[in-house]
Amino acid sequence: MRLPIILDTDPGIDDAAAIAAALFAPELDLQLMTTVAGNVSVEKTTRNALQLLHFWNADVPLAQGASMPLVRPLRDAASVHGESGMEGYEFVEHDRQAMVKPAFQAIRDALMHAPQPVTLVAIGPLTNIALLLTHYPECVFNIQRLVIMGGAAGRGNFTPNAEFNIAIDPEAAAKVFQSGLEIVMCGLDVTNQAMLAPEYLATLPQLNQTGKMLHALFSHYRSGSMNTGLRMHDLCAIAWLVRPELFTLQSCFVAVETQGEYTSGTTVVDIEGRLGHPTNAQVALGIDVEGFQQWVAEVLALAP
Ligand code: RIB
Ligand code: CA
Repeated sequence: MRLPIILDTDPGIDDAAAIAAALFAPELDLQLMTTVAGNVSVEKTTRNALQLLHFWNADVPLAQGASMPLVRPLRDAASVHGESGMEGYEFVEHDRQAMVKPAFQAIRDALMHAPQPVTLVAIGPLTNIALLLTHYPECVFNIQRLVIMGGAAGRGNFTPNAEFNIAIDPEAAAKVFQSGLEIVMCGLDVTNQAMLAPEYLATLPQLNQTGKMLHALFSHYRSGSMNTGLRMHDLCAIAWLVRPELFTLQSCFVAVETQGEYTSGTTVVDIEGRLGHPTNAQVALGIDVEGFQQWVAEVLALAP
C-alpha cells in the first residue's frame, strides 16, 4: 500500500529533486502538489512546478498558494536558485494550469475526501500550512503527520540562527509548531550533511532524462557546488518518509522565535528538555549519509 502524500513546495532546485523522489519512490502516492512563495515568487514557483509535472508527464493536480508570508514582506533565495528559481534548464512549452482554488483550500478538500489520513510534506515556508490550520482547524484529524524540511537545532543558513524556510515566515511556523500536529522536522542538522558527491553528480547526465535535467539545474544551485558536493535539503523530507532508518530523531519541544530583532525565525530546539514544555516535534539530529546517497541513486534511477 503506497503512502498518500501532499507536497507543499517552493521550487527551487533542491525542491525539484525532492519532487522527482516523491513521484518515483514506489512507496509514495503523490496526490496533490501545492506551491508557496519562498525561493522565488509564487508565480515563479508555480511555473516551475508545472514545468516539472509536464516534464515527468505526471498526473498530479497543482494548486498555487500564498504569494506572501502571513505578516512579513517576502524575501527570496534567488541567489541560491537563480532568478527563475530553477536556473539552468530550458523546459518545453506546455499548457498545464494550476487549479483555480488556492493551495490551502485544495489541501483541505484533498484531506476531507481522502479515505484515510494523509501525510503532509512541506519543503518551503509554512505559510500554506498555517492558512490551512487557521481556516480549517478541523482538518488536523485527517492529517497523518507533517514532515518538513525546515529549522535547525544548530546554526541557520539565512540568518546566523534561522533556516530559510522558517525565517521567511516565522509566524506561520510558530502556528504550525503550536498546532498539536505530529511533526517530523528535518532541519539543517541533517540536511547540511545530506550531500550528493561530485563523483555521483558527474554520472547524472548519463543516467536518464531526469538525471540530465537535474544535472543542468544542479550546475546553477548554490548550496554547495558541483566540485565539492551539493546539499539536498528538501530530499531529506522525502527520504525520511521512505527510509526512516537513515535518520536519528529525538522528541523535543520546539519553539519558533518571532520577536527577536536578530533572532526571528530561529527554531529553539530544547534537546535537553531545559524549558520543561511537552515535546511537540520529532527532530532529526543524525543521518546515515552513505545510506542517503545510496537511496538517492536508487530513486533517481527509477525516473524516466
Ligand atoms: O534552507 C533550505 C531550504 O530553503 C530548502 O527548502 C530550499 O529549497 C530553500 O527553500
Ligand atoms: Ca524548498
